[in-house]
Amino acid sequence: MGAKSEHGLRGRLRGKRVLVCVGAGGVGKTTTSAALALGLAARGQKVAVVTIDPAKRLASALGLEELSGEPHRIDSARLAAQGVEIEGELWAMMLDAKRTFDEIVTRLAPDERAREEILANPVYTELSTAVAGSHELSAIAKLYELYEEHDFDVIVLDTPPSRNALDFLNAPNRLLGFLDGRALQVFLAPGGLTARLFGRGTALIFAIFARITGVDMLGELSRFFRSLTGVLDGFGERTRGVAALLRSPHTAFLIVTSPELEPAREAVFLAEQLAAAGMAGGELIVNRVNREGLRGRSVQEVAQLLEGELGAALAAKVASNLADFDVLARRDRETIDRLSRSLSEREPILVPHLDEEVQDLLGLAGIADHLFA
Ligand SMILES: Nc1ncnc2c1ncn2[C@@H]1O[C@H](COP(=O)(O)OP(=O)(O)OP(=O)(O)O)[C@@H](O)[C@H]1O
Ligand SMILES: [Mg+2]
Repeated sequence: MGAKSEHGLRGRLRGKRVLVCVGAGGVGKTTTSAALALGLAARGQKVAVVTIDPAKRLASALGLEELSGEPHRIDSARLAAQGVEIEGELWAMMLDAKRTFDEIVTRLAPDERAREEILANPVYTELSTAVAGSHELSAIAKLYELYEEHDFDVIVLDTPPSRNALDFLNAPNRLLGFLDGRALQVFLAPGGLTARLFGRGTALIFAIFARITGVDMLGELSRFFRSLTGVLDGFGERTRGVAALLRSPHTAFLIVTSPELEPAREAVFLAEQLAAAGMAGGELIVNRVNREGLRGRSVQEVAQLLEGELGAALAAKVASNLADFDVLARRDRETIDRLSRSLSEREPILVPHLDEEVQDLLGLAGIADHLFA
């Protein structure tokens, strides 16, 4: 670590105070966010990373055993004990994705049929669409709070898997619009006004649900909204601030992708959407890139090189495996070239596909080394 070249990621991100990692599901957004934060902290900055649903082992590596709602500092001694030295400060917190409608239903519905019925219900659909961004909302609200109320040099925000970056980024506006609207007021008012709002039929459907399934969906939904209203207290006037922050020159969106076709396509789509919404794309990070196996040699040459140590049969097998990696590496290279051309940005940052999952601080430091190479 420690390279200070202006051409590296460190230089490219200079002056940025908010880094938002976006990308398709499973490409490594959470890993990249944490590694970026660690790498920047290693280089002397005071960094907070807001992760979303990190894998259990990664969460515990970051000392995130419980949801606290506030970032906590990762002890330098804890880092040093795992062989990771940092000059700055690393703070981390996680947000949970539990507060989504479908999960409430899944949790409450006693059986599959009840679940399906509720999910297909028109009232349910309408409400859940309106607040689809509630999880995103809390992430963005948190980002804003950290930005306004703390003195971090950099805040790194992980995002939930999303095909539509704007769904995520527009969540505050959408939800606020809904909460400010009459619909919710009526809905929250006691005395069964839901019937007037949605028509008797649907209220009746809920009543029947309640009787058959024992799930008081309406009660549950209004509790849900009340809890959201709590989350949103005082957030209304800050919405403009959030929108401005997301478009500020201090904010950069890092598009994370793997070299697979579908995620790469989504990366292009995300970049277009960000641009259309006036949000500046920052860097393209291609994670899990396959490394070449044979490194320019022929299968026979490599087999010969290995023969002394492995014996002829095994050496041939290993060489042919390595040749398979070359095929993958070539395919990755093509996808990456295409991506660079269609995004016409700077050179993408490549992170190799590591042999092991990234679950601890040392693993993150390894990813950081590639990011900041
Ligand atoms: N470069 C890499 N080499 C090997 N494994 C990796 C690499 N990057 C990430 N992984 C592993 O891939 C899995 C998915 O990574 P991660 O959770 O960061 O993806 P994500 O984009 O946040 O997923 P989701 O969209 O579900 O939130 C994890 O098990 C992680 O350890
Ligand atoms: Mg994730």
